[in-house]
Amino acid sequence: MNPHDFKIPADRLPELLCAMPKAELHMHIEGSLEPELIFALAQRNGVVIPYASVEELRQAYAFTNLQSFLDIYYAGASVLLHEQDFYDMAWAYLERAAADNVLRTEMFFDPQTHTARGVDVKVVIDGLHRACVDAEAKLGVSAALILCFLRHLSEEEAFETLEQALPYRDKFIGVGLDSSEVGHPPEKFAKVFARCRELGLHLVAHAGEEGPPAYVWSALDVLQVERIDHGVQSAKDPALMARLAKERIPLTVCPLSNLKLCVFPDLKEHNLGTLLDAGLAATVNSDDPAYFGGYMNENFLQTFAATGLTAQHAWQLAANSFEGSFIDDAAKARYIERLNETFARFAAA
Ligand code: HPA
Ligand code: ZN
Repeated sequence: MNPHDFKIPADRLPELLCAMPKAELHMHIEGSLEPELIFALAQRNGVVIPYASVEELRQAYAFTNLQSFLDIYYAGASVLLHEQDFYDMAWAYLERAAADNVLRTEMFFDPQTHTARGVDVKVVIDGLHRACVDAEAKLGVSAALILCFLRHLSEEEAFETLEQALPYRDKFIGVGLDSSEVGHPPEKFAKVFARCRELGLHLVAHAGEEGPPAYVWSALDVLQVERIDHGVQSAKDPALMARLAKERIPLTVCPLSNLKLCVFPDLKEHNLGTLLDAGLAATVNSDDPAYFGGYMNENFLQTFAATGLTAQHAWQLAANSFEGSFIDDAAKARYIERLNETFARFAAA
């Protein structure tokens, strides 16, 4: 526990939330495409999109559930064709992450969204990876890539995607599972995750966003993932909560996403505080920041304002984000040291 947490004046909490170093462990790079960039890339590439203006596109961002979002999210990604497009998208996100004091980010990408349109996986990975390399050198942000399989497609298609990506194995650190959750349980991908485990890739999966606690159990027991993406439905299952707490399985929670996709009716009702107070290794993340109304600091600011979480929770969330990241122990220790220095500065000021 951080020694400074109780000495921070409540009125300085928003400033502290923005200033504190943090890691982002759950964001889809295609979900960082702002409407302005979608239009600019559509023009650059001669792609026709079914919206007349940036404003009209933004107005379509009124979602009722996960699927209503995914339909627009896949349409937005259709403007990405060339290596430079993937670079530009990732660079725009990485600059915003740096501004939010994100020191480490592990970014999801969806190769199947692009290969289905005839874009080579090499184009996707090279563009994104070049932005990651530049982020380290120019922004001081450590960035890595996690390849996600689309769960509404078959396991066979996931295997094909893995095969296509393996020549670039050194440019991504793990695999995940995203897209339409209900009706596509984790065990549908048991074999491909087993193969990825043999290959030494890190494993994560979306589970318990809209789906039941049973999906979180099978992500852990069948897929053997190291982190659960979302996982907020775990609160319905006391035995699962006890396990997640005992094993300190990171949960990459995305509050503004949950609000926009109607997982919770109001941020005031969000269970992030319940998860933390039960000892779970929950973190805060932006998911698809261009679509859900905010990047990392906006997620922290709005969630803390709505739920009354404290400086102690803030420290725990940031510490959990570094602990749950796929960096080595020495790097984790250095980041936590920087976190403690920030808290000390706010406590003394
Ligand atoms: N859930 C599932 N799939 C996704 C999401 C999400 O929140 N964002 C992008 N793909
Ligand atoms: Zn997600």
